[in-house]
Amino acid sequence: MSRPSANDIATGALPKISHGRGVYLWDTDGRQYIDGSGGPAVFSVGHGDPRVNAAVAAQMEKVAYGYRYLFTTDPLEELSEILCNATGMADMVYTTSGSEAVESAVKIALQYHFDRGDPARVNFIARQRSWHGNTLMATALSGFVDRTRAFAGALPAVGRVSAANAYRLPEGVSRDGLVAHLAAEFEAEIHRLGPQTVAAFIFEPVVGAAGGALPPPDGYAKAMAEVCRRHGVLVISDEVMCGSGRTGHWRASAEDGIMPDIITVAKSLSGGYLPLGAAVYTQEVADAMRAGHGGPLTGHTYTGHTACLAAGLAVQKIVAEEGLLARIQDKGPRWQADLRARMAHLPQVGDIRGRGFFIGVEVVADPETKAPYAASLGVNGRIRAEGLRRGLICYPSGGHVDGAAGDTVILAPPFNATDAELDEIADKLVATLETVITGLPRH
Ligand SMILES: Cc1ncc(COP(=O)(O)O)c(C=O)c1O
Repeated sequence: MSRPSANDIATGALPKISHGRGVYLWDTDGRQYIDGSGGPAVFSVGHGDPRVNAAVAAQMEKVAYGYRYLFTTDPLEELSEILCNATGMADMVYTTSGSEAVESAVKIALQYHFDRGDPARVNFIARQRSWHGNTLMATALSGFVDRTRAFAGALPAVGRVSAANAYRLPEGVSRDGLVAHLAAEFEAEIHRLGPQTVAAFIFEPVVGAAGGALPPPDGYAKAMAEVCRRHGVLVISDEVMCGSGRTGHWRASAEDGIMPDIITVAKSLSGGYLPLGAAVYTQEVADAMRAGHGGPLTGHTYTGHTACLAAGLAVQKIVAEEGLLARIQDKGPRWQADLRARMAHLPQVGDIRGRGFFIGVEVVADPETKAPYAASLGVNGRIRAEGLRRGLICYPSGGHVDGAAGDTVILAPPFNATDAELDEIADKLVATLETVITGLPRH
């Protein structure tokens, strides 16, 4: 998705947002939008929830922030317990963004190896067609050419393996052979770097913006984790976009049957109310860092900001009290099937995939060959604009095929969107795609 510039803002190219309630937003001209993507997969309990607002206001009334390295607070203790129970992990470093969570995960992995007397482990392996964030190391890990090219010369070197995409198989690889192929490629990359030098492998269980809500083939994560274990390489599961319940499981990697060493979360954790992320890690990792340095050597001034934690806590209480994960587990597959049926008349909708309330729609120029539209057509930008015109917020993205071409749309509605609201999102997306595709040159 092309990013709005300051110029877009100055020229009025962007709507000016006024307020939001539940799954709807309104601009200052009174136009209503249904939020089919939770912004960029952020709004887990919708907009303007009075319970979250009240929790934040009450915390601000008491104290905005009890400095994390000086005090503990109720929201810190309660949310940390929820995070540990939800992930099966032992401890965490809080951040104010997903990028910082990834950056923290990297430092935690390095410190873990250092504190265990294995300081040569400094290399990371990440995947093509992935997005891990905006800070320099997170950008280095990302395989998203469009967003990384401008910085490439200054980025730390990172080992790279293929995306796990059953819709776009590597040349000469069958669907059945895909997992074994990717695991072998990964092992070869570890050997290329030197097995004793690899600190961690980072992956998104369901790829977000860089892949269009793309889940891996069955057994992929287990196979990759098994290679990691054999070589003493840590597994970092980047669940910033797909985690904190969006797939219907609090920990997205739980559905893959693996237990990572470090998990990054943000976005749905505090559902857009205030900035909050975390790098959550196992007891083993915690023990190593405690023995070596007394704890993790990463943290920011605003690590564990109390009002942000109060927002996260209020959001997580709503998710638990309203049984929203069970709702996603029940409704997600049915909604995905419904979307598939509604788009069956559009052959250019090449693939519909995803998990829970994290669904990707891939648009192709040629359904036979799966060839994408030329990047110069800006198809994902057209979908964004047409959706907005129809009052739909969705999350189109480009470049997942070759770094430039490839168009996907992510749907990631609030966890508490009703059936009627999900129908409205589907209606509007179908109408949007019909209009955009009709206006494109035939292949
Ligand atoms: C998987 C993943 N990791 C990390 C990030 C970075 O998070 P943030 O934008 O909050 O810094 C994102 C953002 O979209 C993401 O999708």
